[in-house]
Amino acid sequence: MPYRIVKRKDLIPGQTVLMVVDAPMIAAKARPGNFVILRVNDHGERIPLTIADRDPAAGTITIVFLVVGKSTALLATLQEGQDILDVCGPLGRPTHIEKRKAVICVGGGTGIAAMHHIAKGHHEAGNRVVAVIGARNKDLLLFCDELGSFCPEVLIATDDGSRGHKGFVTEVLQKRLEEDKDIEEVVAIGPVPMMEAVAKVTKPFGVKTTVSLNSIMVDGIGMCGACRCTVDGHVRFACVDGPEFDGHAVDFQELRMRLGQFRCEEKQSFDQFKARS
Ligand code: FAD
Ligand code: FES
Ligand code: MG
Repeated sequence: MPYRIVKRKDLIPGQTVLMVVDAPMIAAKARPGNFVILRVNDHGERIPLTIADRDPAAGTITIVFLVVGKSTALLATLQEGQDILDVCGPLGRPTHIEKRKAVICVGGGTGIAAMHHIAKGHHEAGNRVVAVIGARNKDLLLFCDELGSFCPEVLIATDDGSRGHKGFVTEVLQKRLEEDKDIEEVVAIGPVPMMEAVAKVTKPFGVKTTVSLNSIMVDGIGMCGACRCTVDGHVRFACVDGPEFDGHAVDFQELRMRLGQFRCEEKQSFDQFKARS
C-alpha cells in the first residue's frame, strides 16, 4: 500500500525535510519513541526514521529527516501528493513514561524533531518538561514553536551564540541540573557524541538518563542483527529492545564504530546518485 505525502516542507533548505504522511493505521498505534522503516521505491533500501509527531484523527504521521546519503536524498525528491512505496511501523518500544516532577528533554540537530514527540508524551503525563535544544546556529534550530506550545521553558544553545547560550547543550544542562532539584529524568536524542556527553554530565547527579540509539537497522524486527549494540555488558538489538536505553550503560564507542562500518560503500552510492541526478 503506498503512503501519500500530504505535506512537505524544507525546514532547512537542501538539508532537512519535514513530511506529513498519510498512514492511518500507524498514526492510530504510534507512541512517543516509536519509529518507522520505509522504502522509497522497489529498489530502495530500508531506512529507519523516528515518528516526530502523529495525528490519529487526520490519520497522519510526521517524519523529519536530514539528507545525509542516497536514500534520504531520494526521499527528499518526493513532493506533496506523491507516494512512498512502503512504510512499516510503528516499530521499537515506546518511551517509558513515568510520573515525574520534572524532566529535561535534550535535542541536538535533527534529533530535536524526534525528541519533540517524547517531550509531548511527558507533558501529556503531567510532567513539567524543560526542553534543551542545540544546533550550530539559529537557522538550524527546529521545532522551537512546537516545543514552546507545551514546554514552560525551551532553553537554547548555539555553537556560534546566534541564539541563546553560546556553546553546547551540555553546558545548559549542567547548569539546570545544579539549580533545579526537581529534575528526575533526562532524555537525549541527537548525534552520538552529544548523547554520550549528556550521559557524562548527568552521571554525577545520579539522574536517570535515557538515550535513543540510531544504530544501523535493516529489518527492524530483531532478525537480522544489524542494530546490535551493547548495553550494561549485554548484547541488545536496538530495533526491538530499544531504541531507548540507559545512557549510563551504553557502549558508545562500539555504537560509533558500527555506524561507520559501511562509510565507503555509502559514499560511493551517494556519489553515483548525485552524478545521475
Ligand atoms: P547513507 O549514506 O546510507 O548513510 C549515512 C549514515 O547514516 C551512515 O554512515 C550510518 O551511520 C547511517 N545509516 C545508514 N544506513 C542506515 C540504516 N539503515 N539505519 C540507520 N542508520 C543508517 N535520521 C533522521 O534524519 N531523522 C530521524 O528521525 C531519524 N530517526 C532514526 C531512528 C532510528 C531508530 C534510527 C536507527 C535511525 C534514525 N535516523 C534518523 C538515521 C537515518 O536512518 C539515517 O540517516 C539514514 O538511514 C541514512 O540513509 P542514507 O542512505 O541517506 O545515508
Ligand atoms: Fe535487524 Fe534490529 S534491525 S535486528
Ligand atoms: Mg543508505
